[in-house]
Amino acid sequence: MKAQREFDILIIGSGAAGLTLALKLATNARIAVLSKGDLTSGSTWLAQGGVAAVVDETDIEQNHADDTLTAGSYLSHSDAVTYTVENARESVDWLIEQGVPFSKENGQLHLTKEGGHSHRRIIHAADATGKAILQSLIEKVQAEPAITLFQQSVAIDLITTTKLGLSGNQCLGAYILNNDTGVIDVFKARHTVLATGGASKAYLYTSNSDGASGDGIAMAWRSGCRVANMEFNQFHPTCLYHPQAKSFLVSEAVRGEGGKLQLPDGSAFMHKFDSRAELAPRDIVARAIDHEMKRLGADCLYLDISHRDDDFIKSHFPTIYQRCQQLGIDICKQPIPIVPAAHYTCGGVMTDINGNTDIEGLYAIGETAFTGLHGANRLASNSLLECIVFASACAKEISGQLDTKFYYPEIPSWDESQVTDSDEDVIIAHNWDELRRFMWDYVGIVRTDKRLQRAKHRSDLLQKEIADYYSNYKISKDLLELRNLALVSELMIRSAMLRKESRGLHFTLDYPQLGPQPRDTILTPINYQWP
Ligand code: FAD
Ligand code: SIN
Repeated sequence: MKAQREFDILIIGSGAAGLTLALKLATNARIAVLSKGDLTSGSTWLAQGGVAAVVDETDIEQNHADDTLTAGSYLSHSDAVTYTVENARESVDWLIEQGVPFSKENGQLHLTKEGGHSHRRIIHAADATGKAILQSLIEKVQAEPAITLFQQSVAIDLITTTKLGLSGNQCLGAYILNNDTGVIDVFKARHTVLATGGASKAYLYTSNSDGASGDGIAMAWRSGCRVANMEFNQFHPTCLYHPQAKSFLVSEAVRGEGGKLQLPDGSAFMHKFDSRAELAPRDIVARAIDHEMKRLGADCLYLDISHRDDDFIKSHFPTIYQRCQQLGIDICKQPIPIVPAAHYTCGGVMTDINGNTDIEGLYAIGETAFTGLHGANRLASNSLLECIVFASACAKEISGQLDTKFYYPEIPSWDESQVTDSDEDVIIAHNWDELRRFMWDYVGIVRTDKRLQRAKHRSDLLQKEIADYYSNYKISKDLLELRNLALVSELMIRSAMLRKESRGLHFTLDYPQLGPQPRDTILTPINYQWP
């Protein structure tokens, strides 16, 4: 039986961004929070390094701002950077109030270091910061009567007045697939928030979990929102290289605490690429590793922390120590095999400082959003921070509008009368593999015009097939993710084709220099037709 549910606020996503927003609004409104898997299914749960904020008295906010701008290759928006660093300490204090057990030393928050930071500035819970944050936030939201949690609930598409052929440009909610029952309901809301995380699953090798398929970006684009800077997909330099290790990160904090990158013969190389060596920003380190792997024909390089004493390693990096131990690698005694992998989507749905998108009543926060903070390359540990800072700003924005009366037009139920059950589900898996491989091969760490054209050609073909499949067969979570990932990959490719320079994460052999002016790549979905 198809239902029409109504809430004041519909939050799509249960990561750091979604849950922070829900908690900040819980006293004033009826809130639905959706997760397409269980509550821990996004990237937040996996976050290791920590949250960046100026806490040490020898550090100042201007340093954090300068480091963010430098890492971002001077493309970050100064208003977003200033707003973030000024609200960082308050955000960390709020997390502590929620019960997050950050690591301490001598009664003070322990600060670790990561690439691109000029000071020790990373507040962390050993090497499982995201898990510690999410556990605390989940406990709080579960205790809030105003918040209803819907797990295994996949947002398919937004419902807007424009799509219903009505006047105005208002979001009215979304169609939601219950992954357990297959039923598709209407969730109506005066305020709908995309907190759906990133799209790194577009690549064959990634640190992200399977759900990082850019759903929020795709839904927003299909509804008429602009997206920006989609060419800047961040590759983390050090993911574990092991046949049984699917998507396991080795935190940058390992390098912050003295870990050295090595070639297969044990020699250091990072000093040849940047004077900051292992602690250069991520784009530089990932490119250096990629360069050395290709030059040597090596399957992986190595990260060695074994010179630190065993107690230090086991207490600072218990998760990494245990995971490597399970795979037969003793990081106290031997170097860790590593490779770069897709990690973070710097671009996204364009928003202002308060999370407003181009559509009224539709907001985007967290990794899905493009706030202008990260520029051409995100500074380490600025993402969890962005989630908290901008979720808080968005909460203020929404709470200022909760009193206004709102009348919904009639919203049709999801129509499945024209589709049948698929007899070829395997095609989805094949298409997914194909997409992720050509994105890795042609839209990866080093790009050329020719590679991007190849990717565009394949993307066009694939999207036609997916559109055909989508209009003929009943939908499933896998099909929805593939459809979204294919669209978001196209946005990445098109953005990369438009940038005729090398800046931050976008490095192309055809234009190896920095262009004269920093500028964003903004795509507008005017007259967008699928595909
Ligand atoms: P996520 O935490 O990714 O949550 C997305 C949510 O949206 C999930 O609940 C998912 O189920 C839901 N969702 C998605 N699509 C749909 C849909 N269609 N319908 C319903 N629900 C949907 N950043 C840092 O600052 N510091 C770190 O130390 C750090 N370490 C990291 C380590 C790893 C391994 C990874 C992968 C990332 C790391 N990052 C780190 C990045 C950071 O964790 C993420 O950018 C951040 O957690 C994103 O939070 P979010 O709330 O935006 O989305
Ligand atoms: C890490 O721990 O290396 C990840 C930090 C981040 O993505 O900011």
